[in-house]
Amino acid sequence: MVAAGAAAHSDHGREVAKTLLLAAESPDSGYTIKDINKLKKVAIFPGSFDPITNGHIDIIERCNHLFDEIIIAIAFNPEKKGLFTLEERLEMIRNIYGNHKNIIIDSFEGLLVDYARKMGAKIIIRGLRAISDFEYEFQMALMNRRLDDKIETIFMMPHEKYSYVSSRLIKEVFQFGGSIQGLVSPIVEKKLREKFGNKINK
Ligand code: PNS
Repeated sequence: MVAAGAAAHSDHGREVAKTLLLAAESPDSGYTIKDINKLKKVAIFPGSFDPITNGHIDIIERCNHLFDEIIIAIAFNPEKKGLFTLEERLEMIRNIYGNHKNIIIDSFEGLLVDYARKMGAKIIIRGLRAISDFEYEFQMALMNRRLDDKIETIFMMPHEKYSYVSSRLIKEVFQFGGSIQGLVSPIVEKKLREKFGNKINK
């Protein structure tokens, strides 16, 4: 494992690291997902994703160029009732990202830092749309750092065309018949129609 990390500083080293990684990923290698992720730059993108918006997707695309693997992790909180069930949220994201080899779609319950440790990830990605996001995000980042100083939060800015987009507004606008075209994936729009269809047509 150490050899893979150290060798990755040259082109040849990168090839060696890739080969070692492939060997480690084989089912009979005896390595756990945590061991394997320690060899990669793994970032967790956590959120409620109720539902995923094009703002989230924009951040994920940007992360794709920076990290070896991105874990889109839906926080499951039984006390927080969302519009979509956990399974529906997972399904929408799976339908959008089904075939991306380096994007993992998962959910977790409990503390984010515990989940990050379990997955061997040291980076948390959060989107910052505007100053108004900052205070809440800053609090969370510092609390997470207090809980685990080895896990860093990195803030990413979505394209400015999504700076006003939130899952909450998407649901509200759609519920009252406004257009959300271009702000969510057609997969999400279809699911919203299924959820709200009857009410909207009344
Ligand atoms: O999309 P959201 O709702 O802004 O995401 C917030 C989320 C899920 C990332 C945050 O509430 C979270 O990390 N929840 C897991 C529980 C936890 O670790 N809480 C302490 C955070 S400081």
